[in-house]
Amino acid sequence: MLFSLAILLFISPTVTALTDLQAQCNGTDRLYNDTSCYVVVGPKIYHYLAKISCNHYLGYSGHIVHMRDAATQAAVLQAVTTYTGYGSYWLGLETINSSTSTTVSTNYGNYYRNGTVVIPTYFPWGPNQPVNGASYKKGSYNKSTNAIYNIPATEQSSNICEYEEALKQPVTDLERKCVNLTSSFRTLFVNDVCYVAHFTFKNYNDAKVACNALSGYNGHLAHVRTMSELWAADAVLKGASVTCGRLGIEQTNLSSTDPYNGWYLTTPTAQSIPTTFLPWAAGYPQAGGGYRTIAVQSGSYPKSFGTVNDTTPCPYLCQYDGPGPSTTTTTSTSATATTTTTTTPTTTTTATTPVTTITAAGACTRATTTSAGGTGSTAATTNAGRTASSFSHYRFGYFKNTCYWLDQLTVTFSKCLNMCHENELCFGLSYNSGTNDCQLLAIIASASPYWFELTADKQYETVIRELQ
Ligand SMILES: *[C@@H]1O[C@H](CO)[C@@H](O)[C@H](O)[C@H]1NC(C)=O
Ligand SMILES: *[C@@H]1O[C@H](CO)[C@@H](O)[C@H](O)[C@H]1NC(C)=O
Ligand SMILES: *[C@@H]1O[C@H](CO)[C@@H](O)[C@H](O)[C@H]1NC(C)=O
Ligand SMILES: *[C@@H]1O[C@H](CO)[C@@H](O)[C@H](O)[C@H]1NC(C)=O
Ligand SMILES: *[C@@H]1O[C@H](CO)[C@@H](O)[C@H](O)[C@H]1NC(C)=O
Ligand SMILES: *[C@@H]1O[C@H](CO)[C@@H](O)[C@H](O)[C@H]1NC(C)=O
Ligand SMILES: *[C@@H]1O[C@H](CO)[C@@H](O)[C@H](O)[C@H]1NC(C)=O
Ligand SMILES: *[C@@H]1O[C@H](CO)[C@@H](O)[C@H](O)[C@H]1NC(C)=O
Repeated sequence: MLFSLAILLFISPTVTALTDLQAQCNGTDRLYNDTSCYVVVGPKIYHYLAKISCNHYLGYSGHIVHMRDAATQAAVLQAVTTYTGYGSYWLGLETINSSTSTTVSTNYGNYYRNGTVVIPTYFPWGPNQPVNGASYKKGSYNKSTNAIYNIPATEQSSNICEYEEALKQPVTDLERKCVNLTSSFRTLFVNDVCYVAHFTFKNYNDAKVACNALSGYNGHLAHVRTMSELWAADAVLKGASVTCGRLGIEQTNLSSTDPYNGWYLTTPTAQSIPTTFLPWAAGYPQAGGGYRTIAVQSGSYPKSFGTVNDTTPCPYLCQYDGPGPSTTTTTSTSATATTTTTTTPTTTTTATTPVTTITAAGACTRATTTSAGGTGSTAATTNAGRTASSFSHYRFGYFKNTCYWLDQLTVTFSKCLNMCHENELCFGLSYNSGTNDCQLLAIIASASPYWFELTADKQYETVIRELQ
């Protein structure tokens, strides 16, 4: 008897335990089914607003519903049946290639908030769907037919937001503040970055110093370096109904007549970093140069960059990064607002260093690690207590010798920079913006004997952390 009671005590909590999301997913407008919470939003809105409005539950990277399979379809039907009065709903489904016909199912993908697209295998199209028509780019669900349709973005529909257990992240102060800004701006919180579209028109010099909507955070004109970042920028700018949005990218050589080269990611304070991610929209960049700044031409994703005269007034896109007010500043691109490390200059502890794992140890021959240049505890002592980092471009290339790596991860560029900032042993990094490959470096890339081992590769940018 005692024995079976003990077992019952062990088992019952796991049987009855609700997840946080499940516990909060209540009310007639929401349904929890198979690790997702669906929230029905009745009033009709445009698709571009639906895309940036799934913020009922912070920390879950909410997105418009992905109708992946018959089970999701059944859950969606159940949700819209419970919440009555509306007929058609947006899906997170959009065409992925404007050159491919809208009648091809595999030209449609489900988008996550970070711009990653997954082409589903399940398409419960209504009769004669999908229709042919260049503007019929967005997926929609019709309750009375329980089927999906492709319709133009110029139509309005109700919406269904989906929050997935698998996407759960800690909720940060930055995310809360970002979502709170929506009454006066359009915002999107993605990958620890708060993007804010400002409606007012400004020339470049004024816009560059105008990213001050979130006090305590490093604001600067957005740095768009990857397709994912471009998708987020496009989404938030379209949500703001502006046709262009200034970015923090400029050509610093004022005598250059070459519009293709010499572009830099800039902020009001940190050192500029060269950039080669330049997805030009049709007709750009203008020949002959002289247009020294870049704006996203919203709606032309994935070829979205247009050159603009720096004197031309334009709406602008800001980005805010952590850490927040409780910490000292890092470079323009750090990531976590929850970090509350307050290192004093005399502290030499390594307890605040989150990552020191050498993941590629198997391939690493330890022969060269004792050389001068910054490995092991020497580096930790030299670096201890630094509260600010700045990074400067060194060369395009990376180190094949994994002994020189502190760690290798697949993360965004801002995360990569922030991880280096937070790691006292990190002296720079190599980053591939195509694959998001982040190699944190235990050595100073420009120092002897390391510099000549750098393998030239246009895909990888190596930056050096400046000692301060
Ligand atoms: C729904 O969830 C909220 C937030 O957790 C809670 O305050 C409220 O009591 C719940 N309502 C019901 C009917 O469970
Ligand atoms: C999800 O919804 C379907 C259809 O209503 C139902 O059959 C299934 O039991 C639900 N699953 C869970 C885990 O609630
Ligand atoms: C749903 O489909 C039915 C049948 O085609 C149609 O009559 C109705 O107008 C559609 N509802 C909406 C809201 O589009
Ligand atoms: C888009 O579709 C066109 C025509 O089918 C094809 O030639 C092109 O490679 C596609 N582009 C991408 C990025 O898939
Ligand atoms: C975007 O989010 C999805 C879903 O969590 C994930 O699978 C994908 O790796 C993410 N992509 C990027 C570039 O972060
Ligand atoms: C969000 O805005 C409301 C109303 O202005 C305010 O009361 C609340 O403190 C804000 N929350 C955060 C996290 O800033
Ligand atoms: C700036 O551009 C001009 C014209 O192309 C070129 O001659 C000059 O070398 C460039 N200056 C720098 C510092 O790159
Ligand atoms: C940019 O605008 C300024 C002021 O309106 C003008 O003088 C200059 O010629 C323009 N640049 C180009 C390349 O058109």
